[in-house]
Amino acid sequence: KSLARFVDPLPILPVARMAGKRPDPTQHGHELPYYRMEMRAFKAKLHRDIPSTPLWGYDGLFPGPTFETQRDEPLLIEWVNALPTKHFLPIDHNIHGAERDKPEVRAVTHVHGARVPANADGYPEDWYAPGRSALYRYPNGQDAATLWYHDHAMGITRLNIYAGLVGAFIVRDKEEQALGLPSGDYDIPLILCDRLVAQDGQLYYPVSDDPDAPWVMQCNGNLPLCNGKIFPYLDVEPRRYRFRIINVANTSFFDLSLSQEQAFQQIGTDQGLLPAPLERTRVELYPAERADVIVDFSKLAGKSVQLRHQAQGIVEFRVRGHGGRDTSVLPTTLRKVPRIDPASATRERILTLNEIDDASGNALTMLLDGKRWSDPITENPRQNAVETWSFVNLTGDAHPIHLHLVRFQILDRRPFDLFAWNAHRTLTFTGPAQPPESHEAGWKDTVRADPGMVTRIAMRFEGEPGRYVWHCHFLEHEDNEMMRPYEVLAAQT
Ligand code: C2O
Ligand code: CU
Repeated sequence: KSLARFVDPLPILPVARMAGKRPDPTQHGHELPYYRMEMRAFKAKLHRDIPSTPLWGYDGLFPGPTFETQRDEPLLIEWVNALPTKHFLPIDHNIHGAERDKPEVRAVTHVHGARVPANADGYPEDWYAPGRSALYRYPNGQDAATLWYHDHAMGITRLNIYAGLVGAFIVRDKEEQALGLPSGDYDIPLILCDRLVAQDGQLYYPVSDDPDAPWVMQCNGNLPLCNGKIFPYLDVEPRRYRFRIINVANTSFFDLSLSQEQAFQQIGTDQGLLPAPLERTRVELYPAERADVIVDFSKLAGKSVQLRHQAQGIVEFRVRGHGGRDTSVLPTTLRKVPRIDPASATRERILTLNEIDDASGNALTMLLDGKRWSDPITENPRQNAVETWSFVNLTGDAHPIHLHLVRFQILDRRPFDLFAWNAHRTLTFTGPAQPPESHEAGWKDTVRADPGMVTRIAMRFEGEPGRYVWHCHFLEHEDNEMMRPYEVLAAQT
């Protein structure tokens, strides 16, 4: 029997509440807003007709509360690990960082897309066990953008995120606020993912047929969720809404469209506003990518509109007969995105994406530039330097590649000769470079590196020196060696 659609209201995620003020560790005599965010086990109803599901979440919620922050207004968050000491999902102890001598349950939180000093970035090896916490200072010195926070513990990130450790983190700024876009109740994060949910409500995580090595290279659910509900509905007014769509799935991508021949006006990407709104009938999001869209329901009073993934409706918007006056605007221009000139790069790095198979062709592990996590650091940009990185995808799949700390621009994707590479490690292009499509021409922090292509990005390493990471955001790949540390070196004086 198939599950009833659109019987649960879409949860509007609560805003994280300040727990007081604490001294600013970097500025004597100053105080900063202080938040305390406890990771806890809890149960929640994912759907009216499914019994409650055991989950883990920030503040006992899945997704966790939304952080509302303002540019250049720093804050402190204490991330508290109050989880049980046993994991409820299958750990693979062969994976680097998840060996049997480590505590089974470990956690460390990363704010995806945040420009933070290394000591607050949630380095995967900075995990801590239940009963402990970490106090991180977030400067928020960056353009308005839809960021998100999630667990990043070495070797078990895929399981911790799957268990529910995710939430939205919004940075606002004055320039964006001056545009008059839909705001307040009309500005809503939509956190999308999928899960394998059994009839009894249990979450299932897929396993290989080897009980001693349960790792799988991908994890696709049987049901889509939006803000922690399966097939929810939302009553909306006949007016404009801003939706910040975030794909927090382990491996699944979303190919989104609206019914009623309604289009999205895309206004932003991962790291903030596009130069101008773009009308789009389809929006495709790989894991960790975001799309900031305006949907105009004003001509649909009394109708319902579905947000679909391919042919399947996943959220239903029910447009009321009437509503208050809509004073929001959709400006024709949004924000300048000055292009980074690749000629200004001091370093061009060529980095491969690799899949290592066993004799029967099963994936054993995935690597970046043929290296493992524990190999010495090879990517060591200077602070404030511009570099280009070219991802040479030697595998048969697309991989969403993410760099911590920086925002980047996609320069191009270009087909290359895989046989020539395999034979003598030379890069021979077989076609012209394809510039990014206009919806990818904003600031990004995660890029789809297509198979058979060299995907080239450019970025300036703004931020503090220290150790960060870059990785594939398919969480199964990230956990099994498709992640590398990188080091930003202090600028030469
Ligand atoms: Cu979404 Cu390393 O992060
Ligand atoms: Cu990957």
